[in-house]
Amino acid sequence: MDNFEKSNLIDEAKRIIFKASEQIKSHMQRPYEINTKQDRKDLVTEIDESTEKFIIEKIRSSFPDHKIMAEEGTGDDVTSLDGTVWIIDPIDGTMNFIHQKRFFAISIGVYHNGEGIVGLIYDVMDDTLYEGVKGEGAYKNGKKLPELTKEKELKDTLIGINSFWSVPNRRLNEEKIHQLIRDVRGTRSYGSAALEFAYIAEGIIDAYITMRLSPWDIAAGLIIINEVGGKATRVNGEPLDLLKENSVLAANEVVHSRYIHYIEEK
Ligand code: IPD
Ligand code: CA
Ligand code: CA
Repeated sequence: MDNFEKSNLIDEAKRIIFKASEQIKSHMQRPYEINTKQDRKDLVTEIDESTEKFIIEKIRSSFPDHKIMAEEGTGDDVTSLDGTVWIIDPIDGTMNFIHQKRFFAISIGVYHNGEGIVGLIYDVMDDTLYEGVKGEGAYKNGKKLPELTKEKELKDTLIGINSFWSVPNRRLNEEKIHQLIRDVRGTRSYGSAALEFAYIAEGIIDAYITMRLSPWDIAAGLIIINEVGGKATRVNGEPLDLLKENSVLAANEVVHSRYIHYIEEK
């Protein structure tokens, strides 16, 4: 992809995310339908679906030969990252959207032959755009984010983790998570994977640990944290695969390897 194509793509992706955000804000003033997907906690609203359709129509009209992977099923059946692939979560943090009317984001990551080109995470109610452009840095509302600090000890870190992983569960040894919680400075849980990545890039949390995320939860965030020297892998240190579900350990690179010792998969 040449520079002209790249800058055109980035501009269009931003136009789409701003417009989609306006539509969410206006639609959420009116009553809307809420449904469940795989289980009673897995929520989806008609606004998730209409936002995804809107984003996909816009991409298809500007870039008909690009592929689209999206959460609510309106995208393509993407089985490889060859070519240009848009990976979309129309509303990341649907539970927050429904219950709190804030703390949710639109996430768009664009990859070209498997390499992240641009990641956009838009905090809709806060009107904040986190942006990462491969090789050009990460930005919050247009202001460049500094590289993450190299001076960091685990005892001084704040980690994003859902309390679900500290009670007995099928995937993780919770005893080791209890020890991690004792050893770090504090924990936070924001309810939007995309925002947790954005907050790592901003340096306001140091890590995010979770056991099952889909490609659209992480596609944009990965590009953004890479630009400030963050690191994201599966919790066992293996590389993430954007064609599958993954466990995720995203962190300031300095402490990434130290967190791994606290994570034991069942
Ligand atoms: C969810 C959020 C949540 C994370 C879940 C995701 P959704 O995405 O990112 O923070 O814990 O695993 O599925 O369903 O709101 O798009
Ligand atoms: Ca999501
Ligand atoms: Ca979603």
